[in-house]
Amino acid sequence: MTLSQFENELTIHEHTQAGTLDEFHRAYEAEVDDIRSDFGATHPLRIDGDAVETGETFTVTNPGDTDQVLGEFAAGDETHVDEAVAAASDAFDEWKETSWEERVAIFRDAADVIQDRKLEITALMAYENAKTRNEAIAEVDEAIDFLRYYSSELERNEGYTADTHEPTPGQRCVSDLQPYGVFGVVAPFNFPFAITVGMTTGALITGNTAVVKPASTTPLTAHAFYDALAEAGIPDGVVNLVTGGGRAVGQPMIEHEDVAGFVFTGSREVGLEIQRTFDELGKRGPVVAELGGKNPVIVSDSADVSKAVSGVKFGAFSFSGQKCSATSRVYVHEDIADEFTEQLVEETNDLSIGKPENRETVVSPLIDDSAIERYDDICETAAADGTVLTGGSRIDRENLPTGRYVEPTVVTDIPHDHALATDEHFLPFVTIHPVSSLEEGITKANDSDYGLCAGLFSEDEDEIDTWFDRIESGMCYVNREQSATTGALVEAQPFGGWKYSGTTGKFAGGPWYLQQFMRQQSRTVVG
Ligand code: SER
Repeated sequence: MTLSQFENELTIHEHTQAGTLDEFHRAYEAEVDDIRSDFGATHPLRIDGDAVETGETFTVTNPGDTDQVLGEFAAGDETHVDEAVAAASDAFDEWKETSWEERVAIFRDAADVIQDRKLEITALMAYENAKTRNEAIAEVDEAIDFLRYYSSELERNEGYTADTHEPTPGQRCVSDLQPYGVFGVVAPFNFPFAITVGMTTGALITGNTAVVKPASTTPLTAHAFYDALAEAGIPDGVVNLVTGGGRAVGQPMIEHEDVAGFVFTGSREVGLEIQRTFDELGKRGPVVAELGGKNPVIVSDSADVSKAVSGVKFGAFSFSGQKCSATSRVYVHEDIADEFTEQLVEETNDLSIGKPENRETVVSPLIDDSAIERYDDICETAAADGTVLTGGSRIDRENLPTGRYVEPTVVTDIPHDHALATDEHFLPFVTIHPVSSLEEGITKANDSDYGLCAGLFSEDEDEIDTWFDRIESGMCYVNREQSATTGALVEAQPFGGWKYSGTTGKFAGGPWYLQQFMRQQSRTVVG
Protein backbone atom coordinates (compact mmCIF):
# COMPACT_ATOMS: atom_id res chain seq x y z
CA MET A 1 0.00 0.00 0.00
CA THR A 2 1.04 3.62 -0.44
CA LEU A 3 1.77 5.51 2.71
CA SER A 4 -0.01 8.81 2.92
CA GLN A 5 2.19 11.68 4.03
CA PHE A 6 1.00 13.40 7.21
CA GLU A 7 0.61 17.15 7.01
CA ASN A 8 -0.68 19.48 9.71
CA GLU A 9 -3.95 21.26 9.16
CA LEU A 10 -3.00 24.95 9.50
CA THR A 11 -6.08 26.98 8.67
CA ILE A 12 -4.92 30.42 9.81
CA HIS A 13 -1.47 29.99 8.29
CA GLU A 14 -2.98 28.87 4.98
CA HIS A 15 -5.42 31.80 4.85
CA THR A 16 -2.57 34.17 5.70
CA GLN A 17 -0.44 32.74 2.89
CA ALA A 18 -3.33 32.89 0.44
CA GLY A 19 -4.30 36.44 1.47
CA THR A 20 -7.81 35.24 2.44
CA LEU A 21 -7.74 35.83 6.18
CA ASP A 22 -10.54 38.39 6.06
CA GLU A 23 -12.76 35.91 4.25
CA PHE A 24 -12.10 33.35 6.97
CA HIS A 25 -13.03 35.87 9.66
CA ARG A 26 -16.24 36.84 7.89
CA ALA A 27 -17.20 33.19 7.46
CA TYR A 28 -16.51 32.54 11.17
CA GLU A 29 -18.65 35.50 12.18
CA ALA A 30 -21.52 34.33 9.99
CA GLU A 31 -21.27 30.85 11.53
CA VAL A 32 -21.23 32.25 15.08
CA ASP A 33 -24.49 34.06 14.28
CA ASP A 34 -25.99 31.06 12.51
CA ILE A 35 -25.49 28.39 15.14
CA ARG A 36 -27.03 30.55 17.86
CA SER A 37 -30.46 29.32 16.75
CA ASP A 38 -29.45 25.65 17.28
CA PHE A 39 -29.09 26.01 21.03
CA GLY A 40 -31.52 24.83 23.66
CA ALA A 41 -32.12 21.25 22.50
CA THR A 42 -32.00 18.23 24.81
CA HIS A 43 -29.14 15.79 24.11
CA PRO A 44 -29.41 12.12 25.08
CA LEU A 45 -26.64 9.67 25.92
CA ARG A 46 -25.42 7.57 23.00
CA ILE A 47 -25.18 3.88 23.88
CA ASP A 48 -24.83 1.10 21.33
CA GLY A 49 -25.82 3.54 18.60
CA ASP A 50 -29.07 4.45 20.40
CA ALA A 51 -30.15 7.76 21.84
CA VAL A 52 -30.79 7.11 25.55
CA GLU A 53 -32.80 9.46 27.77
CA THR A 54 -32.09 9.22 31.49
CA GLY A 55 -35.04 11.07 33.02
CA GLU A 56 -32.71 13.69 34.45
CA THR A 57 -30.79 16.43 32.68
CA PHE A 58 -28.23 19.11 33.45
CA THR A 59 -28.06 22.52 31.85
CA VAL A 60 -25.01 23.90 30.05
CA THR A 61 -24.64 27.68 29.71
CA ASN A 62 -22.22 29.98 27.91
CA PRO A 63 -19.31 31.08 30.19
CA GLY A 64 -19.23 34.39 28.32
CA ASP A 65 -22.93 35.04 28.86
CA THR A 66 -24.22 32.87 31.65
CA ASP A 67 -27.85 33.79 30.86
CA GLN A 68 -27.58 31.92 27.56
CA VAL A 69 -28.57 28.24 27.79
CA LEU A 70 -26.77 26.03 25.24
CA GLY A 71 -28.67 22.85 25.91
CA GLU A 72 -29.95 20.24 28.31
CA PHE A 73 -27.88 17.07 28.56
CA ALA A 74 -28.90 13.66 29.85
CA ALA A 75 -27.40 13.06 33.29
CA GLY A 76 -26.02 9.54 33.30
CA ASP A 77 -25.34 7.39 36.35
CA GLU A 78 -23.91 3.98 37.21
CA THR A 79 -26.72 2.15 35.41
CA HIS A 80 -25.87 3.94 32.18
CA VAL A 81 -22.18 3.26 32.65
CA ASP A 82 -23.05 -0.45 33.01
CA GLU A 83 -25.11 -0.33 29.81
CA ALA A 84 -22.40 1.54 27.91
CA VAL A 85 -19.62 -0.81 29.08
CA ALA A 86 -21.78 -3.83 28.15
CA ALA A 87 -22.31 -2.36 24.66
CA ALA A 88 -18.60 -1.66 24.29
CA SER A 89 -17.70 -5.18 25.49
CA ASP A 90 -20.11 -6.75 23.00
CA ALA A 91 -18.76 -4.61 20.15
CA PHE A 92 -15.14 -5.41 21.00
CA ASP A 93 -15.09 -8.95 19.56
CA GLU A 94 -15.97 -7.78 16.07
CA TRP A 95 -14.08 -4.48 16.19
CA LYS A 96 -10.79 -6.09 17.15
CA GLU A 97 -11.20 -8.45 14.19
CA THR A 98 -11.90 -5.56 11.83
CA SER A 99 -8.78 -5.06 9.74
CA TRP A 100 -6.63 -2.10 10.67
CA GLU A 101 -7.09 -0.80 7.11
CA GLU A 102 -10.86 -0.67 7.63
CA ARG A 103 -10.45 1.09 10.97
CA VAL A 104 -8.11 3.65 9.42
CA ALA A 105 -10.62 4.29 6.62
CA ILE A 106 -13.31 5.16 9.18
CA PHE A 107 -11.03 7.60 11.04
CA ARG A 108 -9.88 9.21 7.81
CA ASP A 109 -13.54 9.65 6.85
CA ALA A 110 -14.26 11.17 10.26
CA ALA A 111 -11.41 13.64 9.67
CA ASP A 112 -13.04 14.62 6.37
CA VAL A 113 -16.44 15.06 8.02
CA ILE A 114 -14.88 17.32 10.66
CA GLN A 115 -12.98 19.23 8.00
CA ASP A 116 -16.29 19.93 6.27
CA ARG A 117 -17.76 21.15 9.60
CA LYS A 118 -14.68 22.98 10.71
CA LEU A 119 -16.27 26.40 11.02
CA GLU A 120 -19.35 25.08 12.78
CA ILE A 121 -17.32 23.27 15.46
CA THR A 122 -14.98 26.26 15.82
CA ALA A 123 -17.95 28.56 16.37
CA LEU A 124 -19.49 26.11 18.85
CA MET A 125 -16.49 26.57 21.12
CA ALA A 126 -17.05 30.32 21.34
CA TYR A 127 -20.21 29.47 23.23
CA GLU A 128 -19.31 26.26 24.98
CA ASN A 129 -16.00 27.00 26.68
CA ALA A 130 -15.46 30.60 25.50
CA LYS A 131 -12.52 29.73 23.31
CA THR A 132 -11.24 32.61 21.22
CA ARG A 133 -11.54 32.21 17.46
CA ASN A 134 -7.86 31.69 16.65
CA GLU A 135 -7.47 29.17 19.44
CA ALA A 136 -10.69 27.40 18.51
CA ILE A 137 -9.79 26.99 14.84
CA ALA A 138 -6.35 25.70 15.91
CA GLU A 139 -8.11 23.21 18.16
CA VAL A 140 -10.30 21.83 15.38
CA ASP A 141 -7.17 21.65 13.18
CA GLU A 142 -5.47 19.68 15.97
CA ALA A 143 -8.39 17.25 16.17
CA ILE A 144 -8.16 16.61 12.42
CA ASP A 145 -4.40 16.17 12.85
CA PHE A 146 -4.88 13.54 15.56
CA LEU A 147 -7.26 11.57 13.32
CA ARG A 148 -4.95 11.70 10.32
CA TYR A 149 -1.67 11.33 12.18
CA TYR A 150 -2.80 8.25 14.12
CA SER A 151 -4.15 6.82 10.86
CA SER A 152 -0.79 7.38 9.21
CA GLU A 153 1.00 5.81 12.20
CA LEU A 154 -1.10 2.66 11.87
CA GLU A 155 -0.24 2.59 8.17
CA ARG A 156 3.45 3.21 8.75
CA ASN A 157 3.55 0.37 11.27
CA GLU A 158 1.35 -1.87 9.12
CA GLY A 159 -1.13 -2.39 11.93
CA TYR A 160 1.67 -3.17 14.40
CA THR A 161 2.24 -6.72 13.19
CA ALA A 162 5.88 -7.63 12.76
CA ASP A 163 7.26 -9.90 10.03
CA THR A 164 7.58 -13.64 10.55
CA HIS A 165 11.05 -14.74 11.59
CA GLU A 166 12.61 -18.21 11.53
CA PRO A 167 15.27 -18.16 14.26
CA THR A 168 15.90 -21.88 13.55
CA PRO A 169 14.52 -23.90 10.64
CA GLY A 170 10.90 -24.87 11.18
CA GLN A 171 10.24 -22.30 13.90
CA ARG A 172 7.98 -19.44 12.74
CA CYS A 173 7.64 -16.42 15.05
CA VAL A 174 5.43 -13.36 14.81
CA SER A 175 5.14 -10.53 17.31
CA ASP A 176 2.24 -8.15 17.25
CA LEU A 177 0.31 -5.62 19.29
CA GLN A 178 -3.32 -6.24 20.17
CA PRO A 179 -6.04 -4.19 21.86
CA TYR A 180 -7.01 -4.65 25.52
CA GLY A 181 -10.80 -4.34 25.39
CA VAL A 182 -12.92 -1.46 26.70
CA PHE A 183 -11.27 1.87 27.46
CA GLY A 184 -12.71 4.62 29.66
CA VAL A 185 -12.08 8.08 28.21
CA VAL A 186 -12.51 11.14 30.44
CA ALA A 187 -11.90 14.50 28.78
CA PRO A 188 -11.30 18.06 30.05
CA PHE A 189 -13.20 21.28 29.35
CA ASN A 190 -10.25 23.27 28.05
CA PHE A 191 -9.63 21.32 24.82
CA PRO A 192 -13.05 19.66 24.64
CA PHE A 193 -12.70 18.76 20.99
CA ALA A 194 -9.02 18.10 20.25
CA ILE A 195 -8.23 16.18 23.42
CA THR A 196 -11.48 14.18 23.29
CA VAL A 197 -10.79 13.31 19.65
CA GLY A 198 -7.12 12.49 20.30
CA MET A 199 -7.67 10.24 23.33
CA THR A 200 -10.71 8.46 21.88
CA THR A 201 -9.00 7.90 18.53
CA GLY A 202 -5.94 6.47 20.30
CA ALA A 203 -8.15 3.89 22.01
CA LEU A 204 -10.40 3.02 19.07
CA ILE A 205 -8.10 3.01 16.07
CA THR A 206 -5.94 0.40 17.82
CA GLY A 207 -8.94 -1.93 18.12
CA ASN A 208 -10.30 -1.14 21.57
CA THR A 209 -13.84 0.06 22.17
CA ALA A 210 -14.69 2.97 24.46
CA VAL A 211 -17.03 4.75 26.82
CA VAL A 212 -16.43 8.50 26.65
CA LYS A 213 -17.32 11.01 29.36
CA PRO A 214 -16.82 14.66 28.37
CA ALA A 215 -16.44 17.40 30.97
CA SER A 216 -19.84 18.46 32.33
CA THR A 217 -19.29 21.99 31.02
CA THR A 218 -18.44 20.92 27.46
CA PRO A 219 -20.59 18.03 26.18
CA LEU A 220 -21.68 19.76 22.94
CA THR A 221 -18.37 19.31 21.15
CA ALA A 222 -18.21 15.68 22.30
CA HIS A 223 -21.57 15.15 20.58
CA ALA A 224 -20.12 16.76 17.43
CA PHE A 225 -17.29 14.19 17.48
CA TYR A 226 -19.70 11.32 18.14
CA ASP A 227 -21.81 12.45 15.17
CA ALA A 228 -18.73 12.61 12.91
CA LEU A 229 -17.73 9.05 13.87
CA ALA A 230 -21.29 7.83 13.31
CA GLU A 231 -21.37 9.50 9.90
CA ALA A 232 -18.02 7.90 9.07
CA GLY A 233 -19.60 4.51 9.73
CA ILE A 234 -18.21 3.42 13.09
CA PRO A 235 -20.17 0.32 14.14
CA ASP A 236 -22.71 0.62 16.98
CA GLY A 237 -21.26 0.11 20.45
CA VAL A 238 -17.64 0.80 19.48
CA VAL A 239 -17.92 4.29 20.93
CA ASN A 240 -20.48 5.26 23.57
CA LEU A 241 -21.05 8.72 24.99
CA VAL A 242 -22.19 9.10 28.61
CA THR A 243 -22.63 12.66 29.86
CA GLY A 244 -22.91 13.48 33.56
CA GLY A 245 -20.90 14.26 36.68
CA GLY A 246 -17.56 12.91 37.82
CA ARG A 247 -18.99 11.03 40.79
CA ALA A 248 -22.05 9.72 38.95
CA VAL A 249 -20.34 8.66 35.70
CA GLY A 250 -16.55 8.96 35.96
CA GLN A 251 -16.14 6.97 39.18
CA PRO A 252 -18.21 3.93 38.08
CA MET A 253 -16.29 3.93 34.79
CA ILE A 254 -12.97 3.71 36.63
CA GLU A 255 -14.22 0.97 38.95
CA HIS A 256 -16.06 -1.12 36.36
CA GLU A 257 -14.49 -4.57 36.14
CA ASP A 258 -14.89 -4.68 32.36
CA VAL A 259 -13.07 -1.39 31.77
CA ALA A 260 -9.59 -2.64 30.90
CA GLY A 261 -7.76 0.63 30.33
CA PHE A 262 -8.23 4.32 30.91
CA VAL A 263 -7.20 7.48 29.13
CA PHE A 264 -7.56 10.75 30.96
CA THR A 265 -6.51 14.38 30.74
CA GLY A 266 -7.13 16.56 33.78
CA SER A 267 -6.00 17.26 37.31
CA ARG A 268 -3.14 15.48 38.98
CA GLU A 269 -5.41 14.45 41.89
CA VAL A 270 -7.95 12.71 39.65
CA GLY A 271 -5.29 11.10 37.46
CA LEU A 272 -3.48 9.64 40.45
CA GLU A 273 -6.80 8.49 41.91
CA ILE A 274 -7.56 6.59 38.67
CA GLN A 275 -4.13 4.95 38.83
CA ARG A 276 -4.63 4.08 42.54
CA THR A 277 -8.05 2.57 41.86
CA PHE A 278 -6.65 0.48 39.01
CA ASP A 279 -3.88 -0.76 41.31
CA GLU A 280 -6.27 -1.52 44.18
CA LEU A 281 -8.64 -3.44 41.94
CA GLY A 282 -5.74 -5.37 40.47
CA LYS A 283 -6.41 -4.07 36.97
CA ARG A 284 -3.45 -4.66 34.69
CA GLY A 285 -4.44 -2.39 31.80
CA PRO A 286 -2.85 1.02 31.21
CA VAL A 287 -3.80 4.40 32.63
CA VAL A 288 -2.69 6.87 30.00
CA ALA A 289 -2.90 10.24 31.72
CA GLU A 290 -1.78 13.81 31.18
CA LEU A 291 -1.94 15.65 34.47
CA GLY A 292 -1.19 19.31 34.28
CA GLY A 293 1.77 21.58 34.73
CA LYS A 294 3.34 24.56 36.45
CA ASN A 295 5.25 25.69 33.44
CA PRO A 296 8.40 27.77 33.96
CA VAL A 297 10.00 30.22 31.57
CA ILE A 298 13.57 31.41 31.96
CA VAL A 299 14.56 34.79 30.51
CA SER A 300 18.33 35.05 30.25
CA ASP A 301 20.24 38.33 30.23
CA SER A 302 21.10 37.53 26.59
CA ALA A 303 17.41 37.37 25.65
CA ASP A 304 15.56 39.59 23.22
CA VAL A 305 13.30 41.14 25.85
CA SER A 306 10.46 41.98 23.46
CA LYS A 307 10.29 38.37 22.27
CA ALA A 308 10.28 37.15 25.87
CA VAL A 309 7.49 39.55 26.86
CA SER A 310 5.40 38.46 23.91
CA GLY A 311 5.97 34.74 24.62
CA VAL A 312 5.12 35.06 28.31
CA LYS A 313 2.09 37.29 27.69
CA PHE A 314 0.48 34.89 25.22
CA GLY A 315 1.67 31.77 27.07
CA ALA A 316 0.16 32.93 30.34
CA PHE A 317 -2.99 34.75 29.27
CA SER A 318 -4.41 33.30 26.02
CA PHE A 319 -7.69 31.55 26.82
CA SER A 320 -7.24 33.01 30.31
CA GLY A 321 -4.44 30.60 31.20
CA GLN A 322 -6.86 27.66 31.30
CA LYS A 323 -4.35 25.25 29.80
CA CYS A 324 -2.09 22.67 31.39
CA SER A 325 0.60 24.15 29.13
CA ALA A 326 0.11 27.79 30.25
CA THR A 327 3.15 29.79 31.33
CA SER A 328 2.82 30.24 35.09
CA ARG A 329 6.19 31.24 36.55
CA VAL A 330 9.03 33.30 35.06
CA TYR A 331 12.66 33.29 36.21
CA VAL A 332 14.17 36.43 34.73
CA HIS A 333 17.79 37.52 35.03
CA GLU A 334 18.04 40.32 37.60
CA ASP A 335 19.95 42.60 35.16
CA ILE A 336 16.94 42.79 32.85
CA ALA A 337 14.18 42.04 35.37
CA ASP A 338 12.92 45.64 35.63
CA GLU A 339 12.87 46.18 31.87
CA PHE A 340 11.15 42.82 31.26
CA THR A 341 8.60 43.27 34.03
CA GLU A 342 7.66 46.84 33.08
CA GLN A 343 7.15 45.83 29.44
CA LEU A 344 5.16 42.74 30.43
CA VAL A 345 2.83 44.80 32.62
CA GLU A 346 2.39 47.41 29.89
CA GLU A 347 1.58 44.82 27.23
CA THR A 348 -0.66 42.83 29.58
CA ASN A 349 -2.67 46.00 30.19
CA ASP A 350 -3.17 46.29 26.43
CA LEU A 351 -4.49 42.74 25.99
CA SER A 352 -8.02 42.61 24.77
CA ILE A 353 -10.40 41.01 27.26
CA GLY A 354 -13.81 40.18 25.93
CA LYS A 355 -16.23 37.89 24.22
CA PRO A 356 -14.35 34.99 22.62
CA GLU A 357 -15.94 35.52 19.24
CA ASN A 358 -14.54 39.07 18.95
CA ARG A 359 -11.65 39.11 16.54
CA GLU A 360 -9.24 40.90 18.89
CA THR A 361 -10.00 38.96 22.11
CA VAL A 362 -7.07 37.21 23.77
CA VAL A 363 -8.36 36.89 27.34
CA SER A 364 -11.76 35.20 27.35
CA PRO A 365 -14.05 34.41 30.30
CA LEU A 366 -13.43 31.64 32.83
CA ILE A 367 -15.24 28.35 32.51
CA ASP A 368 -17.29 28.20 35.73
CA ASP A 369 -18.02 29.73 39.13
CA SER A 370 -15.42 27.64 40.91
CA ALA A 371 -12.75 29.12 38.61
CA ILE A 372 -13.88 32.63 39.53
CA GLU A 373 -13.74 31.75 43.22
CA ARG A 374 -10.23 30.31 42.85
CA TYR A 375 -9.21 33.47 40.99
CA ASP A 376 -10.50 35.66 43.85
CA ASP A 377 -8.65 33.51 46.38
CA ILE A 378 -5.25 33.52 44.71
CA CYS A 379 -5.43 37.25 43.97
CA GLU A 380 -6.23 37.94 47.62
CA THR A 381 -3.27 35.79 48.68
CA ALA A 382 -1.02 37.50 46.12
CA ALA A 383 -1.97 40.94 47.45
CA ALA A 384 -1.27 39.82 51.03
CA ASP A 385 1.96 37.88 50.43
CA GLY A 386 3.46 39.64 47.39
CA THR A 387 2.98 42.52 44.97
CA VAL A 388 0.26 42.51 42.33
CA LEU A 389 1.75 44.48 39.43
CA THR A 390 -1.38 44.40 37.33
CA GLY A 391 -4.75 42.64 37.41
CA GLY A 392 -6.20 40.95 40.46
CA SER A 393 -9.87 41.80 39.92
CA ARG A 394 -13.02 40.58 38.26
CA ILE A 395 -14.28 42.72 35.40
CA ASP A 396 -17.77 44.04 35.42
CA ARG A 397 -17.95 46.29 32.39
CA GLU A 398 -21.18 47.57 30.97
CA ASN A 399 -20.32 46.43 27.47
CA LEU A 400 -19.79 42.82 28.53
CA PRO A 401 -22.63 40.36 29.06
CA THR A 402 -23.06 38.48 32.32
CA GLY A 403 -19.95 36.34 32.15
CA ARG A 404 -16.90 35.36 34.11
CA TYR A 405 -14.42 38.02 32.95
CA VAL A 406 -11.28 38.61 34.99
CA GLU A 407 -8.08 40.60 34.60
CA PRO A 408 -4.84 38.91 33.56
CA THR A 409 -2.64 39.12 36.62
CA VAL A 410 1.11 39.61 37.04
CA VAL A 411 2.57 39.13 40.50
CA THR A 412 6.04 39.48 41.99
CA ASP A 413 7.79 39.38 45.40
CA ILE A 414 6.49 35.85 45.92
CA PRO A 415 8.97 33.28 47.27
CA HIS A 416 9.73 30.59 44.73
CA ASP A 417 8.36 27.89 47.07
CA HIS A 418 5.11 29.76 47.87
CA ALA A 419 1.93 27.87 46.89
CA LEU A 420 1.18 30.56 44.29
CA ALA A 421 4.40 29.56 42.52
CA THR A 422 4.14 25.79 43.04
CA ASP A 423 0.44 24.90 42.53
CA GLU A 424 -1.35 24.69 39.21
CA HIS A 425 -4.09 27.34 39.09
CA PHE A 426 -5.49 27.11 35.55
CA LEU A 427 -6.09 30.87 35.59
CA PRO A 428 -4.63 34.01 33.96
CA PHE A 429 -1.98 34.36 36.63
CA VAL A 430 1.82 34.49 36.40
CA THR A 431 4.54 35.04 39.01
CA ILE A 432 7.86 36.76 38.23
CA HIS A 433 11.05 35.76 40.07
CA PRO A 434 14.38 37.57 39.46
CA VAL A 435 17.42 35.21 39.44
CA SER A 436 21.14 35.88 39.29
CA SER A 437 22.08 33.24 36.69
CA LEU A 438 20.79 30.70 34.20
CA GLU A 439 21.96 28.06 36.69
CA GLU A 440 19.69 29.43 39.42
CA GLY A 441 16.81 29.69 36.93
CA ILE A 442 17.17 26.05 35.89
CA THR A 443 17.44 24.81 39.48
CA LYS A 444 14.29 26.71 40.45
CA ALA A 445 12.43 25.73 37.28
CA ASN A 446 13.16 22.05 38.03
CA ASP A 447 12.17 22.36 41.68
CA SER A 448 8.59 21.33 40.93
CA ASP A 449 6.48 18.18 41.02
CA TYR A 450 5.45 18.97 37.46
CA GLY A 451 7.43 18.69 34.22
CA LEU A 452 5.08 19.46 31.34
CA CYS A 453 6.18 22.53 29.35
CA ALA A 454 9.11 24.91 29.74
CA GLY A 455 10.36 27.92 27.83
CA LEU A 456 13.68 29.68 27.47
CA PHE A 457 14.48 33.07 25.98
CA SER A 458 18.19 33.34 25.19
CA GLU A 459 20.34 34.40 22.25
CA ASP A 460 23.31 32.33 23.48
CA GLU A 461 23.80 28.87 21.90
CA ASP A 462 25.69 27.51 24.92
CA GLU A 463 22.91 28.57 27.24
CA ILE A 464 20.36 26.93 24.96
CA ASP A 465 22.33 23.65 24.96
CA THR A 466 22.74 23.72 28.74
CA TRP A 467 19.05 24.38 29.21
CA PHE A 468 17.99 21.53 26.89
CA ASP A 469 20.37 19.18 28.74
CA ARG A 470 19.16 20.08 32.21
CA ILE A 471 15.54 21.17 32.06
CA GLU A 472 13.15 18.53 33.47
CA SER A 473 10.24 18.94 31.12
CA GLY A 474 8.48 17.03 28.37
CA MET A 475 7.95 20.04 26.10
CA CYS A 476 10.85 22.46 25.72
CA TYR A 477 10.59 25.61 23.61
CA VAL A 478 13.24 28.26 22.94
CA ASN A 479 12.49 31.85 21.84
CA ARG A 480 8.89 31.14 20.96
CA GLU A 481 7.35 34.59 20.90
CA GLN A 482 3.88 33.50 19.77
CA SER A 483 3.65 31.62 23.09
CA ALA A 484 6.44 30.55 25.42
CA THR A 485 4.86 27.23 26.43
CA THR A 486 1.51 26.53 24.73
CA GLY A 487 0.31 25.42 21.30
CA ALA A 488 2.06 22.15 20.44
CA LEU A 489 1.54 20.81 16.92
CA VAL A 490 0.73 17.15 16.30
CA GLU A 491 3.76 15.17 15.04
CA ALA A 492 6.11 18.18 15.14
CA GLN A 493 5.79 18.62 18.90
CA PRO A 494 4.40 15.44 20.51
CA PHE A 495 2.75 16.55 23.75
CA GLY A 496 3.27 15.09 27.22
CA GLY A 497 4.91 15.50 30.57
CA TRP A 498 7.57 14.26 32.96
CA LYS A 499 7.20 13.72 36.70
CA TYR A 500 3.60 14.33 37.95
CA SER A 501 2.60 15.82 34.59
CA GLY A 502 1.95 12.41 33.09
CA THR A 503 1.78 8.73 33.93
CA THR A 504 3.43 7.02 31.00
CA GLY A 505 5.88 9.41 29.40
CA LYS A 506 4.59 8.61 25.89
CA PHE A 507 3.29 11.72 24.21
CA ALA A 508 0.04 12.51 22.38
CA GLY A 509 0.56 13.20 18.70
CA GLY A 510 3.88 11.34 18.75
CA PRO A 511 5.19 8.07 17.31
CA TRP A 512 4.86 5.98 20.51
CA TYR A 513 1.40 7.13 21.64
CA LEU A 514 -0.67 4.38 20.04
CA GLN A 515 1.45 1.57 21.42
CA GLN A 516 0.14 2.36 24.91
CA PHE A 517 -3.31 1.20 23.89
CA MET A 518 -2.13 -2.30 22.94
CA ARG A 519 -0.50 -5.31 24.54
CA GLN A 520 2.12 -7.41 22.88
CA GLN A 521 1.86 -11.05 21.87
CA SER A 522 4.67 -13.32 20.63
CA ARG A 523 3.38 -16.18 18.49
CA THR A 524 5.52 -19.17 17.65
CA VAL A 525 4.66 -22.20 15.56
CA VAL A 526 7.09 -25.09 15.45
CA GLY A 527 7.02 -27.46 12.52
N1 SER B 1 -1.68 20.72 23.49
C1 SER B 1 -1.99 21.93 24.18
C2 SER B 1 -0.90 22.93 24.07
O1 SER B 1 0.17 22.60 23.59
C3 SER B 1 -2.31 21.71 25.63
O2 SER B 1 -3.13 20.60 25.85
O3 SER B 1 -1.08 24.04 24.48
